[in-house]
Amino acid sequence: MRKFNWGILAPGKIAHKFADGLAQIPEAVPYAVGSRDIKRAKDFAAKYAFNKTYGSYRELAEDPELDIVYVATPHTFHEEAAVLCLKNGKAVICEKPFAVNAAQAQRMIQCARQNNVFLMEAMWSRFLPSLCKARELIANNAIGKVRLVYADFGFKSTVNPEGRLFAPALAGGSLLDVGVYNLSMCSMIFGKQPSEIKSQMTIGSTGVDEECSVMLRYEEGQSALLFSAIRLGTRHDLVIIGEDGRIEVPGYWKSKNLTLYSGSGSSEYDLPYEASGYQFEALEVMRCMEEGLKESPLMPLDESLCILKIMDQIRKENNLTYLCD
Ligand SMILES: NC(=O)c1ccc[n+]([C@@H]2O[C@H](COP(=O)([O-])OP(=O)(O)OC[C@H]3O[C@@H](n4cnc5c(N)ncnc54)[C@H](OP(=O)(O)O)[C@@H]3O)[C@@H](O)[C@H]2O)c1
Repeated sequence: MRKFNWGILAPGKIAHKFADGLAQIPEAVPYAVGSRDIKRAKDFAAKYAFNKTYGSYRELAEDPELDIVYVATPHTFHEEAAVLCLKNGKAVICEKPFAVNAAQAQRMIQCARQNNVFLMEAMWSRFLPSLCKARELIANNAIGKVRLVYADFGFKSTVNPEGRLFAPALAGGSLLDVGVYNLSMCSMIFGKQPSEIKSQMTIGSTGVDEECSVMLRYEEGQSALLFSAIRLGTRHDLVIIGEDGRIEVPGYWKSKNLTLYSGSGSSEYDLPYEASGYQFEALEVMRCMEEGLKESPLMPLDESLCILKIMDQIRKENNLTYLCD
């Protein structure tokens, strides 16, 4: 594979994990970092051996040597940052949730297509070896036709009204932060969109959902039960139940193993990986670019858009709106 010059836009908490994963790929050149604060860019660059630093996102996006930008701002700035890079001809991998709402996602996708550049949602778990194995088992009919998906993702955090998890101005709440993983798994497994959505949110003191339960129904009676939370630690299980067996993926969003139950027996699959695990999504971007693809077949843009449409509907059902809606 040829070498690609990578840029980090917004070196915050998650960008550290991404850079850790990127360092696993010899062809990924840690090229530039752009921050609103040049000191933060320099500190980050020194830690992960990036060559160049910029005190603004615009300067980063305009660097002619830059190939791919990882957008890692809070959700509310994904659209602005991604569009800035796409208009400058840079490939973009944008943190989850892809955008705050479907309208934003639609504009981002349109911009990528108009400028003929690569764009993908950074739904990193999809690219982990464990979830690739789960997809392979389903495709090989190891559990028969999938009838039910169960997924939960809740963690206990302290209320901080200014922080991105709880601030309505930063599109806080469990659905957009971690509920999006559950929905993304359903979309990946069923390969179609639900025909019916029922949901219930618990809105906390800052005005965002601290808990969210979702039930999806698909054609032919298939269904999904999903739960997300930001003040409640749950098991983080993904269970895929088919007519002839089931697949259990513990701690699924960063999983390193899974169990297949079929017939009267079970099989364990250990699928370890080095470093943070964010290298797999980065590799997918590079593979697609090498092949001249403008989006990933494993995380297509229309699927990111559909997931946002579902989240829009869930928020509508529960009267949760953000300033940018
Ligand atoms: N894939 C995953 O596992 C994972 C995990 C956690 C979070 N995420 C996603 O990654 C994104 C960032 O999350 P994070 O926890 O890394 O966020 P964070 O640390 O709070 O913020 C990330 C960076 O965004 C920049 N930023 C730009 N405008 C900002 C504003 N008005 N307020 C605050 N920061 C602003 C800042 O960088 P500069 O000032 O340096 O430019 C900041 O350091 C979110 O969309 C989140 O959903 C993904």
